[in-house]
Amino acid sequence: MVRDVDDVEKRLRLREFRKERMQRYLEKRSELDESLEEVFDQRTLLALYDLLNTGKLREVMGVISAGKESRVYHGVAGDGSETAVKIYLTSSAEFRRNRLQYVVDDPRFKSIPRDFRKFVYLWAKREFANLVDVYNAGVSVPKPIVQKENILVMQFLGENGVRYPLLVEEDFELDELRMIWEQLVDNMAKMYRKASIVHGDLSEYNVVVARGPTVYIIDFAQAVKLGHPLAEPLLVKGVETLSKFFSKRGVSVDVDETLRMIKSG
Ligand SMILES: Nc1ncnc2c1ncn2[C@@H]1O[C@H](COP(=O)(O)OP(=O)(O)O)[C@@H](O)[C@H]1O
Ligand SMILES: [Mg+2]
Repeated sequence: MVRDVDDVEKRLRLREFRKERMQRYLEKRSELDESLEEVFDQRTLLALYDLLNTGKLREVMGVISAGKESRVYHGVAGDGSETAVKIYLTSSAEFRRNRLQYVVDDPRFKSIPRDFRKFVYLWAKREFANLVDVYNAGVSVPKPIVQKENILVMQFLGENGVRYPLLVEEDFELDELRMIWEQLVDNMAKMYRKASIVHGDLSEYNVVVARGPTVYIIDFAQAVKLGHPLAEPLLVKGVETLSKFFSKRGVSVDVDETLRMIKSG
């Protein structure tokens, strides 16, 4: 008898707990939906709901990074794995002007839309295509999952919603920095020789470092194919930027030697 009362109480408490948890979840959810609605236009929300409805995405959760032109959210893919969802805003007038130089001369995209929204879609499509190319070449990058309009879905670099730090965000020991540099050169070489791609915006802000250390390169929006007029200058700029970062921290690297290694191993 006594036990029954305990049981009932326990069950009631459990029910109360679940109700509260659901309440909290719904509150958080609607906060997120509201913020999505504030930031993105109707078409973007429709594309996002389409990804959710077709099961490619299971859930979109908190924001990881809020840039001027894009936002990155933590999400869950259809198979339950953690994803990063990068969404370009379709409202910045500067966008097309600053990016035109990357898109012209790209043989994969012959016609360049005048319409701003369509240009942003092209930009996202190009970034996803670059990511697929380098991923297939074995470069250490987040695995591409799906792209629709201005939305890119890829593997989340992190665990339980906590992203791994960027190279710039953490203080590494000298021997770790040496390992990171080695991995970077190796990945730049694969990118160049196997994928025929130059990253275009390589710096300590677009390198993620997981435990190990294990290096990942992100953000392939500015990448160009070899043969593009910007390929060579962007390659040099990327190596120079990184070499400055590493030299300052005691890993001496030679720009010309690194460029030679990238191009011919
Ligand atoms: N796949 C990913 N996994 C975890 N975090 C990511 C991922 N992609 C991007 N991020 C986070 O979002 C930030 C912005 O993404 P990025 O692609 O570099 O766009 P941009 O620099 O153009 O704003 C990154 O600095 C990183 O913190
Ligand atoms: Mg970036």
